[in-house]
Amino acid sequence: MKTRKRLRIAIQKKGRLNQDSIDLLTRSGLKFRYDTALISPVENLPIDILFVRDDDIPTLVMDNICDIGIVGENVLLEQQLYQQDNGNNSQFDIVKYTGFSACRLAIAVPQEQNFDNLSALVGCRIATSYPYLLSQYLEKNRIPAEILNLSGSVEVAPRLQMANAICDLVSTGRTLSENNLKAVETVINSQAVIIKSSQALGDKQEIYDLLIRRINGVLAAKESKYILFHAPKKMLATITKLLPGSETPTVMPLGDDKVVVHLVSREGTFWVTLEKLKAAGASSILVLPIEKMLI
Ligand code: PRP
Ligand code: ZN
Repeated sequence: MKTRKRLRIAIQKKGRLNQDSIDLLTRSGLKFRYDTALISPVENLPIDILFVRDDDIPTLVMDNICDIGIVGENVLLEQQLYQQDNGNNSQFDIVKYTGFSACRLAIAVPQEQNFDNLSALVGCRIATSYPYLLSQYLEKNRIPAEILNLSGSVEVAPRLQMANAICDLVSTGRTLSENNLKAVETVINSQAVIIKSSQALGDKQEIYDLLIRRINGVLAAKESKYILFHAPKKMLATITKLLPGSETPTVMPLGDDKVVVHLVSREGTFWVTLEKLKAAGASSILVLPIEKMLI
């Protein structure tokens, strides 16, 4: 087989991860079009983007059709259990947990159904596209129940009387409420993960390193805020302690007893923190988003 010169990234073509993955790559400086095409070449870097079903992403990376994939942890864990069951090792490496596209794999039942605890599921039939994760969860909790494996539209199964409950991903909860269902138990929490083929990248290593550096910069910037404020000089030590995850601040004099402080806070800055800053004497507090960050 001919060796590919361009790095190939697989992302979800439609669904929860699609827009977040496109945003991450765009903010990392990749210029590409997103339409109905399967492959979109990046104009300014030797990278191609493949738009595929999320469930196919681990296999595409394992089979070396793609070098990198952005995929839900849920799909990844299900795939790992499937591979284990078939006596294979998963041939991909986890590069990064991105923290975006958070969701959970949950068990849901019809809204009108009473549900006190898991034992309500004994003897039930549960429809899911995640048979391995569900079966592991039921076994762990010693709940004998039947699993109906469906590849899609799991949420309609109770209405069609194919199942009593479902086990599916819940993000905003809209799909469940539109189908008159309620989530009752969380099987796993999930987020978008970047995976990489375990095979050597050869000539593509350099472009891969550049991409991961940029992605790290984008993700770090997302969590970080640039904070500016005025403070009484004598309160400076107390005030900077209130901002966890912040680097050494830049301090400039403002008159005799005041200073202007600039700093990058690496943790989410919440209203409570800002109120504490104010109570400790800070004023004119500005919190600004950071677009990019090279560490
Ligand atoms: C998941 C899941 C639901 C939807 C839930 O689909 O199957 O359809 O997201 O999101 P909501 O709570 O915001 O309504 P996913 O994006 O994984 O696509 P797929 O199931 O078609 O692969
Ligand atoms: Zn899917």
